[in-house]
Amino acid sequence: MNVLVITGSPHKNGTTAYLTEQFIKGAEEAGHEIFRFDAASKDVHPCIACEKCHGSTPACVFKDDMQELNPHLIEADVIAFVSPIYYYDINAQLKAVIDRFYANDAVLHGGKKTVLMVAMADNSTETAKGALETFKGMARYLEWEIAGTVVGVNCMTPEMIKNTDYPKQAYELGKSL
Ligand SMILES: Cc1cc2nc3c(=O)[nH]c(=O)nc-3n(C[C@H](O)[C@H](O)[C@H](O)COP(=O)(O)O)c2cc1C
Repeated sequence: MNVLVITGSPHKNGTTAYLTEQFIKGAEEAGHEIFRFDAASKDVHPCIACEKCHGSTPACVFKDDMQELNPHLIEADVIAFVSPIYYYDINAQLKAVIDRFYANDAVLHGGKKTVLMVAMADNSTETAKGALETFKGMARYLEWEIAGTVVGVNCMTPEMIKNTDYPKQAYELGKSL
C-alpha cells in the first residue's frame, strides 16, 4: 500500500519525529511504500476560502508545496498524521495542510485508512481530546477508516518518549497496516 505520512513538528529530532520513524520502520517492514511530508519545513499557505478551487476552472490560487503533496494525497491508501499537541490540538503547520485538502475534497472521499499520532507534555489523555475529536470527525466526513491512534502523554522531550511504550505502539501500528 501507499502510505503517506504528514508531520507537523518543527523539531527534526523531537518526540513526534521519533514516533514517525518507528511507524515508518514498521510500515516498511510490512512492505509498504512510504512518502513523508514534513509540513514544518515546507511552504504551505493557509487556505483563504477564496473558493477558486471550486470555481469554473478549479485550481488552488497558491502554487506552493501542496503541489508536491497533492498527487501523493490522492494516491495514498493510508494517510498518517503526526503532531505535537499545541494548546490542546494538532499544531498549525499540520492543520494548514489539512485545510488545503479542500481543493481536492471531491476525490478524497472513501477508500483510505488513516492514523493519528500525537505527543504532549501533560500526563492526561484529556489534553488530546480536541485533536482526537477533530481527527474522528474528519475521518467520518471523508469516509476514511481509522487504522489506529497513538497518544503519547508525559512526553515533553525525546528522552522522555524513548522511555515509554509509545514508540513500540507506533512501530506496531505501522506494521499492522
Ligand atoms: C506552542 C506550544 C504549545 C504547547 N501546548 C501544549 C499543550 O497544550 N499541552 C501539552 O501537554 N503540551 C504542550 N506543548 C508541549 C509539546 O506538545 C511537547 O513538548 C511535544 O512533545 C513536542 O513534540 P515535538 O518534539 O515532536 O515537537 C506545547 C509546546 C509548544 C511549543
